[in-house]
Amino acid sequence: MTVPAGTTHSWIIGASHGIGQALAYELAQRKETLTLSARSQKALTDVATTLPKASPQAPHDVLPLDVANPQDLQNAITKLRQPIHRIIFMAGIYTPMPLAKLDIKECHAIIDVNLCGALHLLHAVLPMLLQQRTTHPTIKSQIALCASVAGYIGLPHAQPYAASKAALINLAESLLFEHGRHIDVKVINTGFVETRLTDKNTFTMPMKLSPQQAARTIARGLNTRAFEITTPKLFTTALKLLALLPKRWSRTLMTRRTQP
Ligand SMILES: NC(=O)c1ccc[n+]([C@@H]2O[C@H](COP(=O)([O-])OP(=O)(O)OC[C@H]3O[C@@H](n4cnc5c(N)ncnc54)[C@H](OP(=O)(O)O)[C@@H]3O)[C@@H](O)[C@H]2O)c1
Repeated sequence: MTVPAGTTHSWIIGASHGIGQALAYELAQRKETLTLSARSQKALTDVATTLPKASPQAPHDVLPLDVANPQDLQNAITKLRQPIHRIIFMAGIYTPMPLAKLDIKECHAIIDVNLCGALHLLHAVLPMLLQQRTTHPTIKSQIALCASVAGYIGLPHAQPYAASKAALINLAESLLFEHGRHIDVKVINTGFVETRLTDKNTFTMPMKLSPQQAARTIARGLNTRAFEITTPKLFTTALKLLALLPKRWSRTLMTRRTQP
């Protein structure tokens, strides 16, 4: 199956809820044709049926999958409409836990989705995108990986989520250096956004955004030449600076807030 000529086809993985769902609305409003993925078929179908369509010939597709299962990604490639312009990896899970009380089963699940999920995706899509360069030489495809400011510095009580996001930033950099001439690589690092993911936090989250606010900035950022998309700027810059401080200073700042 093909997408009508002149239509931007974007695949959002993690489109059933939260920021990915809001991004689906944002990109559909910009007349993009979408393929929506996540585990829950019903939630994806609900999103797809309410999205505006670029044209009756360009319906949005629903492609349920589990990113922790590499075979699901391989199967998805065979069902995906061609050509593909953007691939946006938004899938992620989070459970806050202190290092002294790690839930090891949950640690494996977080790494499996947040990091291995992205590797499973790249393993499946890179050969397809290399092939697409011969069939559609004018298209420079985009891959955007959603990490987090939690990847800038090892925040307390945030492992292994923070480590998975640091690894994702690192992975996006390798992707940029290996394939950046032919693929537009982006990393998305947001601060706090109000979703079911952050509903698990019991602390006050400074400068928290709505999913719609975050999605608007992300959609704009996808159409710029910048590698990194950040929002909100003040918060993400503050955390970047914190990560640059000598660790003796940042430890003093952090432990004052998190240790009795
Ligand atoms: N909220 C924040 O403050 C914040 C800040 C920085 C970065 N982020 C990142 O933003 C992304 C979206 O998070 P969110 O806050 O919007 O959370 P969310 O509302 O829980 O959405 C997460 C999305 O990922 C999908 N997903 C989870 N596990 C999956 C799996 N194994 N396979 C396929 N899809 C899966 C979920 O759908 P199903 O459950 O249906 O599979 C859902 O669509 C995540 O990568 C998160 O780490 C969030």
